[in-house]
Amino acid sequence: MTNVTDQDRVLIFDTTLRDGEQSPGATMTHDEKLEIAELLDDMGVDIIEAGFPIASEGDFKAVSEIAQRSKNARICGLARANFADIDRCWEAVKHAEKNRIHTFIGTSPLHRAIPNLTQDEMAEKIHETVSHARNLCEDVQWSPMDATRTEWDYLCRVIEIAIKAGATTINIPDTVGYTAPIESADLIKRLIETVPGADEVVFATHCHNDLGMATANSLAAVAGGARQIECTINGLGERAGNTALEEVVMALRTRNDIMPWKTGIDTTKIMHISRRVATVSGFPVQFNKAIVGKNAFAHESGIHQDGMLKNRENFEIMRPEDIGLSGTSLPLGKHSGRAALRDKLETLGYEVGDNQLKDIFVRFKDLADRKKEVFDDDLIALMSADDEANDHLQLVSMKVTCGTGGQAEATVELEVDGKDVIATEHGDGPVDATFKAIRAIYPNKAHLQLYQVHAVTEGTDAQATVSVRLEEDGMIATGQSANTDTVVASAKAYISALNRLIMRREKAGPGADAREISYKDLT
Ligand code: KIV
Ligand code: ZN
Repeated sequence: MTNVTDQDRVLIFDTTLRDGEQSPGATMTHDEKLEIAELLDDMGVDIIEAGFPIASEGDFKAVSEIAQRSKNARICGLARANFADIDRCWEAVKHAEKNRIHTFIGTSPLHRAIPNLTQDEMAEKIHETVSHARNLCEDVQWSPMDATRTEWDYLCRVIEIAIKAGATTINIPDTVGYTAPIESADLIKRLIETVPGADEVVFATHCHNDLGMATANSLAAVAGGARQIECTINGLGERAGNTALEEVVMALRTRNDIMPWKTGIDTTKIMHISRRVATVSGFPVQFNKAIVGKNAFAHESGIHQDGMLKNRENFEIMRPEDIGLSGTSLPLGKHSGRAALRDKLETLGYEVGDNQLKDIFVRFKDLADRKKEVFDDDLIALMSADDEANDHLQLVSMKVTCGTGGQAEATVELEVDGKDVIATEHGDGPVDATFKAIRAIYPNKAHLQLYQVHAVTEGTDAQATVSVRLEEDGMIATGQSANTDTVVASAKAYISALNRLIMRREKAGPGADAREISYKDLT
């Protein structure tokens, strides 16, 4: 149980569902948000920032439902510095047994200029809004956005006002990833020493990764006295992202000799949640990403492999099991039965019911027929395949011819709202021809922002995971699919992104998207 008076305990505040979801393209469906919140709660995250309730009806519903379902975590919502935002936020989080309102305003000269407020006018607004939030909720977090570029005297002044108005946590955001570890530690230390009342609140650190220093800056802030780290799974977030939860947690665990602070996180759940977030956000994890990258525990060179066989500590400072990776990874094959599949899925962190197992077994057999060995990563890709049952567009069949001496030709058959439609198109290569055929069947003006292919395992029969990101009138949707045939995976990922776009168009009315809510609109 969290005890914030314990000086060795650092609270983990996860903002994957708010700041993480703000990364262009990283939209999650309602059910996906509930699933990720449940995983965060289970792994021991202290505070979950579940969304920005005023941003859209969808965000409001997700935060409310996460609040109702939370078991241990405190559920927090974000609100700008105005009463409407704060009231809406409270309406959503009030269902949680433990709740929090997080309200913020940009305090640096650049950010003060956006609403065109003087220092005094902004100070007054901070006093009013934090007091209002505190009248609704006993746990209030306040953030001076762009704190690391705010004048020192003004920063101290507004923090003091927020504390007097009832804030219980003061978060110091490095909004643009501008600070460096020495400065980060020093800033928190001096604020705690200088601001009256600082010893009665928790100081938090919220670092963006524009210069690749977010994790180091967060840990330095803790050394300076911060006792809450704000972070996201896989470091998801605006631009270069945020501090990655897995990095700070494993750094604190591995170097506890020099960083004697503890978190309540069950680290064995890290790998599973990392994979789920990568799938539902459509943001694959880079291979060499610390802790959760595919290569983080891979040893390629002969010297390293030899060293590992003699003593794993020669080249490993953490055990793969500590983050939930099973040490051995024996592949399954076409003769493996249902029990072996269930067993393997359980070791990978998936609990499947009998009906789901039946469905996965069919797809597993189909894959095993095409591929001699089915590795853990193949199964994860299989588990991540979208549920296509309710989709508007479904792939019925496709045929592609390509090669030297001419354009590629693709014939695609789709079921569009129950009706079969066929189109044949030519293009620069098989993927281009396929996408053109899909567009001929379902004309749309969505712009392809990202097309990415990852081989899930090794060999020419490896499954490819394809990610597609589409943008249409400011609305963004991603799709992902895995298949041993890269062109089929590409078609399915494209169709999945289109389905999500259609769903978002239907569900979110105009102005309902989080990114259409401007931080500028502060009145
Ligand atoms: O980066 C930032 O400043 C934020 C605030 C809303 C806390 O995300
Ligand atoms: Zn942020």
